[in-house]
Amino acid sequence: MAKIALIVGSVRSDRQGIKVARWIEKNLVNRNHVVFFIDPLELKLPLLDRMYKEMAHPSDKLQFLRNQIKEADGYLPITPEYNRSTSSAMKNTLDYFLEEYYFKPSAIVSYSPGVFGGINATQQLRLVFAELGAPSIPSSFSIPRVHTVFSNEGRLLDESYNERVVRFFEEFEWYIEALGKQRKIGVPY
Ligand SMILES: Cc1cc2nc3c(=O)[nH]c(=O)nc-3n(C[C@H](O)[C@H](O)[C@H](O)COP(=O)(O)O)c2cc1C
Repeated sequence: MAKIALIVGSVRSDRQGIKVARWIEKNLVNRNHVVFFIDPLELKLPLLDRMYKEMAHPSDKLQFLRNQIKEADGYLPITPEYNRSTSSAMKNTLDYFLEEYYFKPSAIVSYSPGVFGGINATQQLRLVFAELGAPSIPSSFSIPRVHTVFSNEGRLLDESYNERVVRFFEEFEWYIEALGKQRKIGVPY
């Protein structure tokens, strides 16, 4: 069992990403993980002015989010691809924090309506998570033609995904366990 911060990357009213996020959440819960479901649409964080650590009086909402980011054993961003990169909503949410992420792994899920499944966003997001101190695991999980994988109501139409995603979770869990053990021994800074 691990605590996993799942971060939704879209706030669009017609967002496809919420279907991916709810499906991933369900799979993680089925694997006995605790999921912190972080949705920027609900959070409505302003564009970054001060980072959390620079705030004298962070809001309750931000303190709650900070505790989730700090407490998580790993991060699972679910990113759309906007202009060959991740979304501003994803980046803005991540940028509020830094040390809270340190020495924990991330595993990136992406999706798009086209055939590439948002891999350009994944590549960009790898750089961000490296800088945050939560390097991404070697595998990523991309979902091409996302409109055909889920129904409008968010039901999984392509059952093969339930099997495909298992290897990705297993790899993520390996890194969560490995880095968790090492953090208990100590961290370099
Ligand atoms: C501003 C913007 C830029 C986009 N740029 C890309 C892109 O570079 N590559 C791509 O495959 N799809 C691109 N798309 C299509 C999105 O991947 C598609 O709309 C997807 O559903 C977005 O995720 P969301 O519905 O969860 O917001 C773009 C969409 C928007 C709104």
